Amino acid sequence: MPTDVQTLQQTFDLRVERYGPQLREGLAAVYGDRADETADRVLRIAADTLRDRPADLRRLDEARLLRPDWLQGPDAIGYVTYTDRFAGTLNGVAEHLDHLESLGVTYLHLMPLLTPREGENDGGYAVKDFRSVRPDLGTMDDLAALTAALRPRGISLVMDLVLNHVADQHEWVQRARAGEQKYRDYFHTFTDRADVDAWEATLPEIFPDFAPGNFTYDDDLQAWVWTTFNRWQWDLNWANPDVFCEFVEILCHLANQGAEVFRLDAIAFIWKELGTDCQNEPPVHFITQALRAALRIAAPATAFKAEAIVGPADLIGYLGRGAHHGLVSDMAYHNSVMVQLWSALASRDVRLFEVALSNFPPKPTTTTWGTYVRCHDDIGWAVSDSDAGQAGLDPFAHRRFLSDFYSGDHPGSFATGLVFQENRATGDRRISGTLASLAGLEKALAAGDDGALRDAIARIVLLNAVILGFGGVPLLYMGDEVAMLNDHSYLDDPEHAADNRWVHRPKMDWDAVAEADDDHASPQGQVLVAMRHLIGVRKRTPHLHASVESRVLPSPDPRILLLTRDHPLGMMVCAYNLSEDEVELWAAPLRDRLGEHADELISGNTWSLQPEYLRIRPYQPLWLVRSPVE
Ligand code: GLC
Repeated sequence: MPTDVQTLQQTFDLRVERYGPQLREGLAAVYGDRADETADRVLRIAADTLRDRPADLRRLDEARLLRPDWLQGPDAIGYVTYTDRFAGTLNGVAEHLDHLESLGVTYLHLMPLLTPREGENDGGYAVKDFRSVRPDLGTMDDLAALTAALRPRGISLVMDLVLNHVADQHEWVQRARAGEQKYRDYFHTFTDRADVDAWEATLPEIFPDFAPGNFTYDDDLQAWVWTTFNRWQWDLNWANPDVFCEFVEILCHLANQGAEVFRLDAIAFIWKELGTDCQNEPPVHFITQALRAALRIAAPATAFKAEAIVGPADLIGYLGRGAHHGLVSDMAYHNSVMVQLWSALASRDVRLFEVALSNFPPKPTTTTWGTYVRCHDDIGWAVSDSDAGQAGLDPFAHRRFLSDFYSGDHPGSFATGLVFQENRATGDRRISGTLASLAGLEKALAAGDDGALRDAIARIVLLNAVILGFGGVPLLYMGDEVAMLNDHSYLDDPEHAADNRWVHRPKMDWDAVAEADDDHASPQGQVLVAMRHLIGVRKRTPHLHASVESRVLPSPDPRILLLTRDHPLGMMVCAYNLSEDEVELWAAPLRDRLGEHADELISGNTWSLQPEYLRIRPYQPLWLVRSPVE
């Protein structure tokens, strides 16, 4: 019998044989003559990580290597929450696992939980120490204990890896300020304002309201420092291989605590190139490839999710275009589906959605989407001018309409959102608000209007049906399962008051969950029951595997979105009524794909597709698959 040491060495060698070339290729493209030395350092870190990796995680590594599509199956259900807002502490989270299990959750994203800077910290996205947990949430040991409690329930812990910047209180900043050149080189610094101006000329502003510009003058450094987001978030210089190695160590450390998915925060921004907008530059993908290869060697149970809120053509690069196919992130946010859903819901017209999705390049079949109705960020109206033009819309006017609609300014709007970061130069006005408030529940409850209430609930369920039926990991945002409304208490907290994204980051209302469980007829109860039902149906529907794309079937009626999924088991057509009208839909396009009869999975009924027209109820979702031939 070989000894454990020999087996481990063989495992390591085999993985280096398999992934070493991807690592070296990525490093060579970025670090030139320092690439080989960097690869050697990375392999040493990987070997140490593998040696120290707990036995159950090593077992998970082997299991995942045998099931590489673990994030693609219809069983995958995501849930996104802040630890403190959900349950106070990491130990508190462990007390609410039954609720997560009742929603079928397999993927739990706890929003930033590492130690952030004191004072304002962008919801934890300004990390002061990557090796400790925010003290009020618990400790690293608590984190490891939580992941150990999640694993037997089949729930993977997802963590943010904030790799574009660190907090100005991070040790690297302190040492740079103290004059250590090594650490100064971790950042982008400029002593000449003319250099800053040259870069600024082509850079957009992310937070024009509260953090205009992209650079901050630092008295200690006597230089301008690159700060894309807030002045206390210092961008890292990824052209420095020492920064790369630091992050390999951080990733490996967190992987050995049991983190399984890393959300690569603001990944689009990590490479700077003069004369560009410094987003989506090609080295970003080489760096991601090298990071991923390092983790495939050390801890292959892990996966990457790219947080790249960028246009479709650029987005596909994060899942791997060309030579990077299948070598970078395993998952990316489908921002476009989110934006188009809200757009179609406001305009009761899916034609722009059809154009945008038809123009979307296909993703590699081994990757998956994160689909979502809401997240912790604002909604930016990322509607491209060319898509709008193709759909016969004036892009500027349509974006203005959407901002007006969701801030409740448009006559007849059902929504109660807030305008976030109005940019007077571009006319851009993003929107904050919870799913339920944006979908009309807040207004309907205030008005005591039963019809409006029915419509609002139906909208919430419909939007969830679309993201559950799209193919990808649906990311349910905490509180949406019980239709939580906007929470204005952020205004009382000086650290949050300037950032109205906190209006849709409420504290979890556990009383509402209990009441919803007791009273299925209440609005919250209806939403919770419907979501559990849809999730159950999804899990039983192999057609929803993410290797298959959802494609647009041009709809005979602009109020109905039709998506097809051409799965080897048979065709699936999803139909969604995005209006409050009962629609008579011409049946022929469905009959052509599905035959004379189809099983409607949500209701469990068989639909005859023989009639000339099908009657689709207001906001009704339909998941139709071809009935098996008797
Ligand atoms: C990501 C986060 C956002 C944060 C930004 C800076 O976009 O989702 O909340 O403000 O990164 O870290």
